[in-house]
Amino acid sequence: MKLKTFCLVLSLSFSLIFADANAQHTMTNVYGRNVQSLNGKWDAIIDLYDQGRKNKIFLNKKPEGKTDFYEYAFENGYLLNVPSDWNSQMPELKYYEGTIWYARRFDVTKERGKRLFLYFGAVSYRCRIYLNGKEIAEHEGGFTPFQLDITNTVKDKDNFLAVEVNNTRRVDAIPAMAFDWWNYGGITRDVFLLSTPETYIDDYFIQLDKYKTDKINASVKLSEKKANAVVTIEIPELQLKQTLKTDGNGEVKTSFATKKLKRWSTTSPTLYKVRVSSENDQVEEQIGFRNIWVKGEKVYLNDKAIFMKSISFHEEIPQRKGRAFSEADAVVLLTEAKALGCNMIRLAHYPQNEYIVRMAEKMGFLLWEEIPIWQGIDFKNEVTREKAGKMMREMVLRDKNRCALAFWGVANETQPSEPRNSFLKYLIETCKTIDTTRLITAACDLVRFDNKRQVFTMDDPFMKELDVVAVNKYMGWYHPWPVTPDKAIWEVARGKPLIVSEFGGEALYGKTGDADLVSSWSEDYQATLYRDNLEMFKHIPNLSGTSPWVLFDFRSPFRFHPTNQEDWNRKGLVSDQGYRKKAWYLMKEYYDSKH
Ligand code: GCU
Repeated sequence: MKLKTFCLVLSLSFSLIFADANAQHTMTNVYGRNVQSLNGKWDAIIDLYDQGRKNKIFLNKKPEGKTDFYEYAFENGYLLNVPSDWNSQMPELKYYEGTIWYARRFDVTKERGKRLFLYFGAVSYRCRIYLNGKEIAEHEGGFTPFQLDITNTVKDKDNFLAVEVNNTRRVDAIPAMAFDWWNYGGITRDVFLLSTPETYIDDYFIQLDKYKTDKINASVKLSEKKANAVVTIEIPELQLKQTLKTDGNGEVKTSFATKKLKRWSTTSPTLYKVRVSSENDQVEEQIGFRNIWVKGEKVYLNDKAIFMKSISFHEEIPQRKGRAFSEADAVVLLTEAKALGCNMIRLAHYPQNEYIVRMAEKMGFLLWEEIPIWQGIDFKNEVTREKAGKMMREMVLRDKNRCALAFWGVANETQPSEPRNSFLKYLIETCKTIDTTRLITAACDLVRFDNKRQVFTMDDPFMKELDVVAVNKYMGWYHPWPVTPDKAIWEVARGKPLIVSEFGGEALYGKTGDADLVSSWSEDYQATLYRDNLEMFKHIPNLSGTSPWVLFDFRSPFRFHPTNQEDWNRKGLVSDQGYRKKAWYLMKEYYDSKH
């Protein structure tokens, strides 16, 4: 298993200023840039007792004198696929929580006037990066990308890259100590070498005005605070082109008037080529233009009230028992959602990979994206709050040009308290420093039946901060019916649109049983549960959308039942082997009946 030396023909040169090598938010549209993949088989060392950093194994020392010896070597040991979680690659790593070191070599060829970056799509959950024996960056957060400028630290030949990855759960982490999905660890998304001109196009935000149907707002930011640099923005199919000069921050801000725009929609997901050019750089991608806003108790997409026919899925391919990470995986997940008749995906419970986000946009799904503020988070901890803000920024910066993205979710099933309210308000403010155009929501779980009034109500002060209120409610599963479904009247969040962001119950595919017995774990009972919830939905006056939990059975270490679960959460409408359960057909019929 000789270490593959990677010969890369890349052009770059030393820059005059030592670039900041700490993990930064990524430049916009990495996938549209000049990238060279570092995916493949990397060497690995399993470091259960965290001895590697202490023993400086990132130096990758080899014995020279007669008395030298080292109790490690990266070569000829374990190999792990990148991208992928480690849990699904070796039986010994199924439940592994701890540190694993990844390493590989690569060569580069240098040319004047270029910069070189390392890009990681995601590393779960925290990591430190070492290049040629020097620690150059660290990152925390298992679901958002980061980049590091290595222009001044990279060598011509035989660069040794080591990544120390750790997925141990911690109280101050996001998510924290217990969450209902598998704690996958590893370099779980693409790794690229990214080459740019010395001064490159760092960021752009090009979207239809929130309320106008014929005005496209555009801002572009160069990597340097250079005034009077020339920037051109083009949308050729709309015959739109502007050439502008940057201000002292290296930025241009402008707008385009257009009468010919075909707005993106879930039934006609029109995308336009958008090209941004500067003196030495050029980036282009497909961007859609749509309006999304709330009026009263309805959500409007392009001036028309829309019912969100949503579904949730985890970033996981059940048959592989591992993280989804490729475009092919995205097609598998989204094709099943399309077959179900959905027009929206709630990407649970963390930012999922860009293949899923971009493919969803192409296929005509609205998206709800969130960072994993899942139940018990250390809301009193300032450090945790800063971490959450950084994850929010990394997510919004990455996906702000995706018109499919309609909702930013800021929490899932958090309990009311002053620290929680101020923590979540901070997340909303953080989001709005970048994007004020999308709808803010959160999945609450405080709907209760008011016996006196004989209606379902909810009392959560945080609702007033939301554009759209969402609730998770498991009637017929965690909560027995207090009244028959046809009498289940709701008075929740009136005056705002309401989405039932989770409902459902478990069934083991193929298991038949008593249609009235929850513990039967049968498809028959799951079908009863869906029939009853769909009946209840008729009595929610401000219902704007539903999102069954969940499209596929998924893995969770706290689903203990020895025959019904075996470490699987069985609320899927589709089994872990890809078979549709009876409830799938009820949901399909419901969505087909909604226009
Ligand atoms: C919660 C939570 C989900 C979880 C689900 C369940 O609502 O948001 O992440 O999987 O309940 O208990 O199955």
